[in-house]
Amino acid sequence: MSRFLCIALALVVTLSGCVMNLTRLKNEEVDFVRQVKPILEASCLECHQHQYEFAGLNLETKERAMKGGRSGPVIVPGAPHKSLLYKVLLLGHNNPVAMPPTPERMERENEQTIHDWIQQGAKWPKGVRLTPPQEWKKSRS
Ligand code: HEC
Repeated sequence: MSRFLCIALALVVTLSGCVMNLTRLKNEEVDFVRQVKPILEASCLECHQHQYEFAGLNLETKERAMKGGRSGPVIVPGAPHKSLLYKVLLLGHNNPVAMPPTPERMERENEQTIHDWIQQGAKWPKGVRLTPPQEWKKSRS
């Protein structure tokens, strides 16, 4: 019985830890430079930058990202479910516009980060420029 209690207690502690973590994450302000920039650079910049501007979308600078692609703006600050930049992450892979266009979906945690960032107003600090993977070596070594 005491072993059962121990396990039950451990479970309660673990679960409440998880719930607390989730609420903390929900209320926390997303930091564009620390959290969003690396996700976009690693998953999207390969194809959405000055060299390969697929669908007319360039995500290198705030100005270009906010302008959007051939379908118009892809970021609607405060409304992730109206933002193509977020919506394309949720599409199934039989859809040609599912992004990134690899068989694997982006990690849930990263999807959530993009969601929260847009929800919180899509803040992009002045002058912050994203670097395509093709240029990482050049700029980071
Ligand atoms: C391997 C190249 C590649 C990568 C990586 C990539 N995209 Fe794309 N993206 C494309 C292509 C190609 C299209 C056009 C797809 C079509 O219409 O068939 C596109 C279209 C889009 C569109 C539609 C734009 C419009 O105005 O219609 C959005 C939004 C988009 N991508 C966002 C993203 C995001 C966000 C990521 C990262 C999670 C990403 N893409 C990663 C190649 C890529």
